[in-house]
Amino acid sequence: MSFDPNAYRESSLTGWEEASAGWIRHQRPMREWSAEVSHAMIAAVAPQPGERVLELAAGLGETGMLAAEIVAPVGSVVISDQAEGMLAGARARAAELGVAGVEFEVLNAEWIDLPLASVDVVLCRYGYMLMADPAAALAETRRVLRPGGRAGLAVWDAVEANPWAGVPAAVLAEREPVGGAGGGDGPGPFALGSEQRLRALLEDAGFAEIEVARVEMLRRHESFEEFWELTLDLSRSFHDAVLSRPEAEISEIHDAVAARLAPFTATDGSLAVPGRTLVAGAEA
Ligand SMILES: C[S@@+](CC[C@H](N)C(=O)[O-])C[C@H]1O[C@@H](n2cnc3c(N)ncnc32)[C@H](O)[C@@H]1O
Repeated sequence: MSFDPNAYRESSLTGWEEASAGWIRHQRPMREWSAEVSHAMIAAVAPQPGERVLELAAGLGETGMLAAEIVAPVGSVVISDQAEGMLAGARARAAELGVAGVEFEVLNAEWIDLPLASVDVVLCRYGYMLMADPAAALAETRRVLRPGGRAGLAVWDAVEANPWAGVPAAVLAEREPVGGAGGGDGPGPFALGSEQRLRALLEDAGFAEIEVARVEMLRRHESFEEFWELTLDLSRSFHDAVLSRPEAEISEIHDAVAARLAPFTATDGSLAVPGRTLVAGAEA
């Protein structure tokens, strides 16, 4: 089946709106796992006091809020996402932290509704690989950056380096090869998980001074059951692909994922599953 970008965009929006409640529920562990990635992105773009920053596909806006502290009080940050539900979570988090100088906007990163050369910095953590057309989104990113402005982005590295998502995806794919999201050449968590591909996309969009670093993480869980519930809660596509099956098959999938994560399971039942992210910085 060939990839239908418009059908994908529609299901991406619905899926992320539905997933936003789970993301809000689990924001604390996710913040901890990805803190180093956000810091590496900030280091890559080095925001300056007074600058205007745009965060794309921001989810709960954690990286944008870090930037807000640096550019304040004169500068400002726009935290944006396609999904209202995510932005509601980001607004609540900003209020909780008392972060000032932040605006929230529903924006699609593939057609950013902002003028040419209107921002100094763009941040995007775990966004571009999930978009129907990452090349279009990067061209848009460069368009809204002023000449010399900087983009800092994070994408998952190759599937082999990310068993926390690679194992559940492999167990499902073995039962029933799936096309579309996550499969083949279409968008999915690992679609940009190659430094070569990432650099080529950034170069094609006209970026210069491209630097790519790798950030390792360990995703810790009290138990496999906690990992399983969290994975179902955070990924709408995994949730639907698993829970739409008969009970017996759901149990088989559950047990197969647990068995493959055994190498990352300690004797007390806790898990520490590795992950690796590519963090790129580039100049417009
Ligand atoms: C994996 S989450 C990452 C959220 C956040 N950046 C983080 O690192 O925690 C992906 C986010 O990208 C957003 N997204 C996906 N495609 C998008 C698009 N074309 N334009 C804007 N947001 C998009 C989703 O709504 C979702 O909030």
